[in-house]
Amino acid sequence: MILVAPSLLSADFTRLAEVSDMLNHSDADWFHLDVMDGVFVPNLTFGMHVISQLRALSQKVFDVHLMIVQPERYIDDFRAAGADILTIHYEASTHLHRSLSAIRQSGMKAGVALNPHTSVHLIEEVLDMIDVVCLMSVNPGFGGQKFIENTYVKVMKLHEMRSNSGENFLIEVDGGVNMLNAAKLIDAGADVLVAGNFVFSSDNPIETIHKLKTCK
Ligand code: DX5
Ligand code: ZN
Repeated sequence: MILVAPSLLSADFTRLAEVSDMLNHSDADWFHLDVMDGVFVPNLTFGMHVISQLRALSQKVFDVHLMIVQPERYIDDFRAAGADILTIHYEASTHLHRSLSAIRQSGMKAGVALNPHTSVHLIEEVLDMIDVVCLMSVNPGFGGQKFIENTYVKVMKLHEMRSNSGENFLIEVDGGVNMLNAAKLIDAGADVLVAGNFVFSSDNPIETIHKLKTCK
């Protein structure tokens, strides 16, 4: 069954405890936590301090998406803050092999995110070191953007690469996910759907999460 990872980027930051409580009582599988540094992407969000405070409020899997340069500098800090999955960008990692090893060594699952223009074939040599591949279906930096249609093809290519390699990483899609594309993404081979704006701008986030979870 599809995993649903609401992105807190679109939540009300003055009410994070209530948001966390709502997610705890929802069908959400993971908390998707978007860390931005204003350098890799043109926006700033939050860091380990906020994540460690949220950690005390939930037992769910913390899926931390780093949109920062030199992500290797902070691996142990995010582990200490409570990340379960740490995803770094292919485009921000000169020594991706080393960084993925370091993430697993610190006790987390290792994720790699690919920008819309980045070919899935570029991670072929490190597939055995990856637990989650996050395909960006918008240009990272902001919530509420329009889904890029080419993502379906990328999901299918990656799904085929996984079958051919015999590896078992999860395929996550991040950006612009809603009921218009969720079922098609699952059909293409997605395992995890991230949704920010679609969940948090809806009248009933719990119901919206349930709809995503059961759309197939
Ligand atoms: C974009 C972030 C996404 C984003 C998804 O840079 O990585 O996680 O918050 O939000 P929506 O679903 O609103 O596109
Ligand atoms: Zn994200």
